[in-house]
Amino acid sequence: MRGAILISGRGSNMTALLEAAKAPDYPVDFRLVISNVPDALGLATAGRFGVEAETIDHTGFDDRAAFESALNARLEAADIELVCLAGFMRILSADFVGRWPDRLVNIHPSLLPAYKGLHTHERALAAGETTHGCTVHLVRPAMDAGPILLQASVPVLADDTPDSLAARVLVREHEIYPQAVALLAGGGFEIDGDTVIRRSD
Ligand code: GRF
Repeated sequence: MRGAILISGRGSNMTALLEAAKAPDYPVDFRLVISNVPDALGLATAGRFGVEAETIDHTGFDDRAAFESALNARLEAADIELVCLAGFMRILSADFVGRWPDRLVNIHPSLLPAYKGLHTHERALAAGETTHGCTVHLVRPAMDAGPILLQASVPVLADDTPDSLAARVLVREHEIYPQAVALLAGGGFEIDGDTVIRRSD
């Protein structure tokens, strides 16, 4: 499948996807990286992988609909079939999400449905959780909702700070995001509405 990755920042999950996709049998060919932030660090990294990387700056549009229409037009022009959000910090409307049914994937740094939204590591620590983690899911109109493809958990340690916990979770993000995307593109999930079942190998 022809894939695109949307970013807003450092792009470490994008890097994990691009690294995985170097394998000849990886089922996604990432052809395009788009950032909504002009100086996102991930743009230069994508360039080093030889992937076309460009900015569509949301601040240059009158409203969300105009921004999303430009984004969608660019994805369609590149014949993209699968879109991966990797630290993309814009909420996407139901209209945009509806254009990519079961073809729009996100990674979130918590064990969803716990800790939707921002500052997940701080909130997990404040709540005294002993386990935390990350989730790859299909995107649905509600934020950080949608059928779960893969999750990975990590222990919360006594001396953890939000940064140390985030770093431990990030290692697992970089593992499960490429795995989940490969499974999705390779037909490894049976998707029926909001129910996802992993096919046995
Ligand atoms: C990651 O923690 C991801 O789960 C969240 O935003 C962060 C992006 O980091 N959605 P990076 O840009 O992939 O390094």
